[in-house]
Amino acid sequence: MTTADDAASRLHGQGLTLAYEQRVISQDLAVTIPDNSFTVIVGPNACGKSTLLRALSRTLKPARGHVHLDGRVIGSYPAKEVARRLGLLPQTSIAPDGIGVADLVARGRFPHQGFLRQWSTQDEAVVAEAMEATGIADLADRSVDELSGGQRQRVWLAMVLTQQTPLLLLDEPTTYLDIAHQMDMLDLCADLHAERGHTLVAVLHDLNHACRYATHLIVMKEGAIVAEGDPATVVTADLVEEVFGLPVRVIDDPETHTPMIVPVNRRAAAR
Ligand SMILES: Nc1ncnc2c1ncn2[C@@H]1O[C@H](COP(=O)(O)OP(=O)(O)OP(=O)(O)O)[C@@H](O)[C@H]1O
Ligand SMILES: [Mg+2]
Repeated sequence: MTTADDAASRLHGQGLTLAYEQRVISQDLAVTIPDNSFTVIVGPNACGKSTLLRALSRTLKPARGHVHLDGRVIGSYPAKEVARRLGLLPQTSIAPDGIGVADLVARGRFPHQGFLRQWSTQDEAVVAEAMEATGIADLADRSVDELSGGQRQRVWLAMVLTQQTPLLLLDEPTTYLDIAHQMDMLDLCADLHAERGHTLVAVLHDLNHACRYATHLIVMKEGAIVAEGDPATVVTADLVEEVFGLPVRVIDDPETHTPMIVPVNRRAAAR
């Protein structure tokens, strides 16, 4: 069923059954990504977050139901057309052997290249801007193989940014990053959302980051969406315990006044 909310959203799916051959991960799932939102998906390991992002980015074809992008079933677009509208940073990516940082980042421009449209100074400027924004400009001549995990993560993000898509799906963009680079990454995403009106969808494990940055939070458990909305109303101690099986306290984040989750000290309680 399509609702009024869906009609207003560039990216949504209904009646989705998501499966890997016989293994069904989600059944009859409905998801709507609000336009111009910074949507964050949280949930325990293996609950189906990456699977949902794959379906939303056309990487995984639903066994049932459809994902719609800009009013059309996503599978009906040519791949390059999807890549001009929507960028995906997968949870893990493998770089071609021996490729240099600048060359890998430049591959994000591929969807904008055509039979006649060759590499331009505009492409060059977009690549330089993305490398600057992700703090990897000084790595341009290095080989991707020889980078640290966090450096590599930022190279992949730069590549997705050069696609310049109005929709960006990021699967755990902060994994591997130290605390300062995590905040840089999330601030960069928030700027893309606030200043350029991009719609972002990010999977995050840090619930406090999710509460700080999400304008729309989606909470998943066992393949289903169990809660969604504004983090301030969605996130309660009961919900976190129900979803993660972890007793917590929810307090006020002194910096942002968003919910802050503090795990209960179970070891002290057991004494
Ligand atoms: N390519 C695949 N083939 C078969 N099963 C898969 C495949 N990818 C994922 N799964 C299974 O699907 C389920 C959901 O996986 P998914 O990667 O979506 O979880 P996730 O919520 O992203 O977890 P994490 O937080 O660990 O990244 C898991 O049980 C996983 O083992
Ligand atoms: Mg995942």
